[in-house]
Amino acid sequence: MTTNRDELKRAAAYRALDFVKDGMVIGLGTGSTAFYVVEGLGKRVAEGLSVVGIPTSERTAAQARGLNIPLSSFAEHSQIDLTIDGADEVERKTRHLIKGLGGALLREKIVAAASHELVIVVDQEKLVDRLGDHGTPVPVAVVQLGWQASAAALERLGARPTLRHATEDHVFITDGGNYILDCAFGRIDDPRRLEKQIGMTVGVVESGLFIGRAKFVVVATENGVEILS
Ligand code: 5RP
Repeated sequence: MTTNRDELKRAAAYRALDFVKDGMVIGLGTGSTAFYVVEGLGKRVAEGLSVVGIPTSERTAAQARGLNIPLSSFAEHSQIDLTIDGADEVERKTRHLIKGLGGALLREKIVAAASHELVIVVDQEKLVDRLGDHGTPVPVAVVQLGWQASAAALERLGARPTLRHATEDHVFITDGGNYILDCAFGRIDDPRRLEKQIGMTVGVVESGLFIGRAKFVVVATENGVEILS
């Protein structure tokens, strides 16, 4: 069943496709909003648009393949023209992000960092004044070995970490073979500093804090689509 929120996500996703130009290498995000980006891109490709996609997850790769969107990799393209992705929280004034509730944060950050432009697509529910305002934890990908020690170190940074599970009995494992610690920090006053501190923690592979990376945020609201830049 398609909900009103899905319709908002689709509206923002299709608007974000205005940033796509023929011949581009496009980073393809992950999640329920990025799903609509890939859906819309598939339609444009069927109409004759020529692009190649670099997917941020196996899920997205499978969807893109099903829509005949040509895929490529870093072996062929170390630079990406444009990435369109979703987010879990967006700080309105700075466009700093929390990402990774969908579990793809490592590939998403690698793709975002290699992209000339990062466009984020969200519905209005994701906007906050300060990161953490909605209580969204910061997902942190950690290597499996010694995750308990990594969790303890993150606690010392002020987090309440929870090991993410796929089911009650099974720990969630990312496409890259890592665990995720969902780290509740509450309101984050200095996200740039926190991103650095988390990144320096032994055992941490990457965090879902995306600081200063989003050039545009396309927001679907009940009154239409708004672009933050
Ligand atoms: C996946 C992500 C997603 O972009 C984020 O979780 C938003 O997902 P959705 O559009 O389903 O709300 O970071 O790792």
